[in-house]
Amino acid sequence: MRIGVLASGRGSNLQALIEAWKLGELNGELVAVGSDHEEAQALKRAVEAGIPHGAFPLSRFSSRQEQEKAILTWLREQKVELLALAGFMRVLSKEFLQDIQIPVLNIHPSLLPSFQGLHAQRQALDYGVKISGCTVHFVDEGLDSGPIIAQEAVLVLPGDTEDSLSARILEAEHRLYPEVVGWVAGGRIKRNGRIVVKI
Ligand code: GRF
Repeated sequence: MRIGVLASGRGSNLQALIEAWKLGELNGELVAVGSDHEEAQALKRAVEAGIPHGAFPLSRFSSRQEQEKAILTWLREQKVELLALAGFMRVLSKEFLQDIQIPVLNIHPSLLPSFQGLHAQRQALDYGVKISGCTVHFVDEGLDSGPIIAQEAVLVLPGDTEDSLSARILEAEHRLYPEVVGWVAGGRIKRNGRIVVKI
């Protein structure tokens, strides 16, 4: 399956996907990496891995709608069949998600539905939970609200800071995301409304 990734920044989850792909563990190939930031480290990682890449900064478009249209057209040109968001800092519109007609996945650094949105790790610390983690889910038009595919729990330790908890969750993200992308690309996921099962 032809897999595309959208990332806005650092791209460490993209890197985990690249490594899994190189080990033949993705049930597909990475064929496109797009970003809304020209300087994103994710794009540099794509260059190093020899993956076609595209930058779509908002400044180059007259509206967010035009920006999304350009991203969609480009993903179609690359014949992407599965799209994985990896730190893509924009909520995709309902129209984009309807038009794309392929599964769209996201990874989020909390056990959803707790702590949606930005700074999920800080929200978890501020709330005082003792277990957090990461979630891979299908993307719908809401914020981190789509059907959950898989989660990995991570302990919150006494004395944790936002940085230390984020780093521990990130290790789990790097295990979980490539695994789940591989399941979806390999046709091992069945979805019935919100309920998602691995077969
Ligand atoms: C990750 O924590 C991911 O869960 C969230 O954004 C962060 C992206 O990190 N959606 P990176 O760019 O993959 O390093």
